[in-house]
Amino acid sequence: MTDNKPFLEMVNISKSFPGVKALQDVNLKVHKGEVLALLGENGAGKSTLMKILSGVYKKDTGKILIEGNEVNIQGIKQAEELGVTIIHQELSVLPNLTVAQNIFLGNEKYSKGTRRINKGWMKERSKSFLEQIGCSVDPNTLVKDINVGEMQMIEIAKALSKNSSLIIMDEPTTALTDVETKKLFEVIRKLKEKGIAVIYISHRMDEIFEICDSITVLRDGKYVGDVATKDVTKDELITMMVGRKLEEQFPYKEVEKRSTLLKVENLSLKDKVRNASFEIKAGEILGFAGLMGAGRTELAKTIFGDYKKNSGEIYIEGEKVNISSPKDAIEQGICYLSEDRKKEGLILGMSVKENMTLSNLQSYENKFMRINKKSEKEEAQTYIKKLSIKTPSENQIIKNLSGGNQQKVILAKWLMLSPKVLIIDEPTKGIDVGAKKEIYEVLNELKSMGKAVIMISSDMAEVIGVSDRVIVMHEGKITGELKRDELTQENIMKYAVGI
Ligand SMILES: Nc1ncnc2c1ncn2[C@@H]1O[C@H](COP(=O)(O)OP(=O)(O)OP(=O)(O)O)[C@@H](O)[C@H]1O
Ligand SMILES: [Mg+2]
Repeated sequence: MTDNKPFLEMVNISKSFPGVKALQDVNLKVHKGEVLALLGENGAGKSTLMKILSGVYKKDTGKILIEGNEVNIQGIKQAEELGVTIIHQELSVLPNLTVAQNIFLGNEKYSKGTRRINKGWMKERSKSFLEQIGCSVDPNTLVKDINVGEMQMIEIAKALSKNSSLIIMDEPTTALTDVETKKLFEVIRKLKEKGIAVIYISHRMDEIFEICDSITVLRDGKYVGDVATKDVTKDELITMMVGRKLEEQFPYKEVEKRSTLLKVENLSLKDKVRNASFEIKAGEILGFAGLMGAGRTELAKTIFGDYKKNSGEIYIEGEKVNISSPKDAIEQGICYLSEDRKKEGLILGMSVKENMTLSNLQSYENKFMRINKKSEKEEAQTYIKKLSIKTPSENQIIKNLSGGNQQKVILAKWLMLSPKVLIIDEPTKGIDVGAKKEIYEVLNELKSMGKAVIMISSDMAEVIGVSDRVIVMHEGKITGELKRDELTQENIMKYAVGI
């Protein structure tokens, strides 16, 4: 890195889809050994720009230069030959193949003069690439037996095996635990040392300040600017992203609390949840804090009937209820929005409206399901507006929406059921800063309507900003409860680590 010539430059890139101008004259440059953040709201055009760079989409106009020479990227293979590899928002590893087979997928090595795949060679090479990034997974393991963090490492090893000079990571940490994220950052630092450039997409500001050297901001498909991370504050970045100052990131609303809506008594699930008891009133947002693995999701899924409880009782409005499946829970007015939204079953070939109003909820045949076709369209439009879902209309096919906007559709789907108790797990993962606030406002509205909201979140600022009360869990047990005026990071941490 003797001179300042960028490794890659994208100049005046434009791209339209039917009804959507996804990118308009966008610029980007990245140097060897640099980690560049690509920042922007949901639907700003980040993934589209990176798909153009990696040969998934073709640009309409503009130039791409690699080491000063213009290149004409026609497809994925060609981008890879030029040294550019992308790790998509949705990982693309194949679960039934081994780690080594995944790393060399499409680039298999054959034994000399035969059509036999040289497994030994691939295993050895895989091991060496994994070692380079400090990952100790055995190359013979089936990918379905490793965790998401390790899958991410496999994708990086795969990029190394292709001799990449630039690796694009599109929201790599949304499914990772804190520990896995730290590990990923170590790997990114190693890539930097090797002179590899990284383009990093994330909605988590803290990560950007920790790992990125510089930042390119997009807004509505347009280029806003470049900044060095050290020269900018979080607030300035948010202003660049959303085009206005975002006052009061956590709108809190005091509403009159009413009677107890949900009561949980001594609920247990093997060693995952141990004798959990709590209650929540109508008009309340109850936050659930804790470290990853504290048992919050397990508790939620047990209440929802997804897991079979070992003991305990659930009461709705004072009456004991029997919940042994999600169908039962929905019938009692309890909905659970899972943190793993990819599994929530969007039907990718269907429209935004259809995904909101029918999709898999149909199978529950619950009494909340309304089949009024006339209001269906209106309701879809209401939620598109309320959650600022970026789509040309309610008839757009869902797979054409950006990742964050797909998530908002799932949220709308559950809100439309109008549950008494909404359990929402990591509500703003993958959601941009502006849209987060809209989601908090929707939660506040539910509260005003006399519903109860249980919000599981690992985002400390969010838990503190939005909740009326917070329950903290540690190793399957409820270790503390904090009122709104007691909510501080220190107080939460004290209980989260088990005092
Ligand atoms: N194949 C497609 N057909 C039609 N529209 C598309 C297609 N791909 C993307 N778009 C639209 O282009 C715009 C930019 O989407 P993109 O996926 O690049 O956003 P993003 O910045 O990655 O957002 P997120 O943070 O939510 O992932 C959005 O309005 C999206 O709906
Ligand atoms: Mg995206």
